Amino acid sequence: MRVLGIHHGHGAAAALIEDGRVVADVAEERFVRVKHYSGAPYQSIAYCMSLVPQNDIDMVAFSSHRRPKAWALDVLAGAAPEYRPADWQRRLPLYFPSFTLRPDVQAIFVPHHRAHAAAAYYTSGLDPAARTLVVTMDGSGDDDVANAIWRGEGGKLELCYAGGQGTSIGWFYSNVTEALGWQHGEGEGKTMGLAAYGDAEDARGAFDGLHPRFDHGAAVEEHDFGPISCATVSGANHWHLRDSTTIQQLLHKHAREDLAAEAQRVLEHQVMAFVLPWLDKLDTQTLLCSGGVFLNVKLNQRIWSSGRVKDHQIFPNPGDAGLAVGAALDAYHRTQATAEIGALQDVYWGPQYSDDRIEAMLKTRRLRFRRRDDIAADAASALADDKIVAWFQGRMESGPRALGNRSILASAGRAENRDIVNERVKQRETFRPFGPSLLAEHRDEYLLNARNEEFMITSFDINARKREAVPAVTHVDGTVRPQMVRAEVNPLYHRMIQNYGELTGEYLILNTSLNVRGEPIACHPRDALRCFFDSGVDVLCLGSYLLSKEAL
Ligand SMILES: [Fe+2]
Repeated sequence: MRVLGIHHGHGAAAALIEDGRVVADVAEERFVRVKHYSGAPYQSIAYCMSLVPQNDIDMVAFSSHRRPKAWALDVLAGAAPEYRPADWQRRLPLYFPSFTLRPDVQAIFVPHHRAHAAAAYYTSGLDPAARTLVVTMDGSGDDDVANAIWRGEGGKLELCYAGGQGTSIGWFYSNVTEALGWQHGEGEGKTMGLAAYGDAEDARGAFDGLHPRFDHGAAVEEHDFGPISCATVSGANHWHLRDSTTIQQLLHKHAREDLAAEAQRVLEHQVMAFVLPWLDKLDTQTLLCSGGVFLNVKLNQRIWSSGRVKDHQIFPNPGDAGLAVGAALDAYHRTQATAEIGALQDVYWGPQYSDDRIEAMLKTRRLRFRRRDDIAADAASALADDKIVAWFQGRMESGPRALGNRSILASAGRAENRDIVNERVKQRETFRPFGPSLLAEHRDEYLLNARNEEFMITSFDINARKREAVPAVTHVDGTVRPQMVRAEVNPLYHRMIQNYGELTGEYLILNTSLNVRGEPIACHPRDALRCFFDSGVDVLCLGSYLLSKEAL
């Protein structure tokens, strides 16, 4: 059974599920090159459909309870007549892709938060008989839900609690982010990074009356956020809520980093008061999280450090770009009630490019390159020489993190490498930390109280003995946000880090996404070439091909 999942909106995406297994998932931003692109994911749908023989789709799942917009019918020209308005006519130009689906194809409409929950639950690999707490939190879904509690049991998701926009702790955090000068729905990670430099005590209570409050697992005080306005600029949504203006005034009284620290404290405190009581109510120690709030890796660490959770999984694409997968999985499990719950092995669900195609592209561009027998060995020795390496291999990652297929890499052994990567490539705010990739079998040498975590979606404390050895990836508060690399999941990347470890004694490298500031992660080799030539990256490993600026 094949299900096509479609998310239209912020983080537009499409996904393909076959017999409950994710075969493809890609965000439209990677093709159109606008971060968090909001609109119809035409190219993502085309990519998914390119993997399906004869457009043989059984169901189309939309990540919204609303009826499909005209664009969806335009793309899915064969969708069943019952889903088509009487006055429907093809409106798109003929050269746009369209797919003639089977006349009996089913269209399913999955509410926003249910799609978030399904993404986490149906990739958890848990025994369907076990009882699981699933929590979804974001700014607000288009179902006007901001926070929801679900019980996962018997392969089904049952809604236990839903809070509307007045309970949105996500919007509060985004308001602080906007006040600090960054984009709502994009810059929240900067607020979190800055928070580690501040002291929440110095701004304690500054946000009283500006956020909802939770106790015993429910909102006890809602907050009136007022109207939300949204400007769509160059294909991306820019939201604004009035509280951000009020919070901006607080900058006259408090330091930026102290306000960020207080916002982080409020977020952690309120989310814990909401989530943890449900572990007792549902009598479980298994917690699955999804929704954009759980992009906050420090919050995720805090929940884990509470010691209340035995099995903690955060869906690695918790923002809205993960909704296409979630909607498709929900649709599949609705009709296959006894199906097993698949486990997440990896998120390499995007396009790939063969060596032949890459070589042809390099020749067309008249570039100097070398084909290598062991590109992993070349990359490892360049890293050991403190070169910055762009690493483009295999299928592109789904989700916000580069996980060793579209990455920029550097040695973590010198503190200045962090500044060098920042200055030459990323041009990010200097307070933002980079995360490491480390070999899973070396986990406990580097990390304290860590579990296996392969998606850079939570932070852990670094082992004090290693803090000096890998300063480029250690945040000022002594935490790191790691990807643990297993040989069976990504053999080439694993081998490369192994080679690097044999040269340097450290089985850990700095890993950041392959893109320059403000761009989505590279998708096509062309994106990697542009990044290579438009930044201070020293070496590009493009499939089996090596490009070096020294050789130019
Ligand atoms: Fe969402």
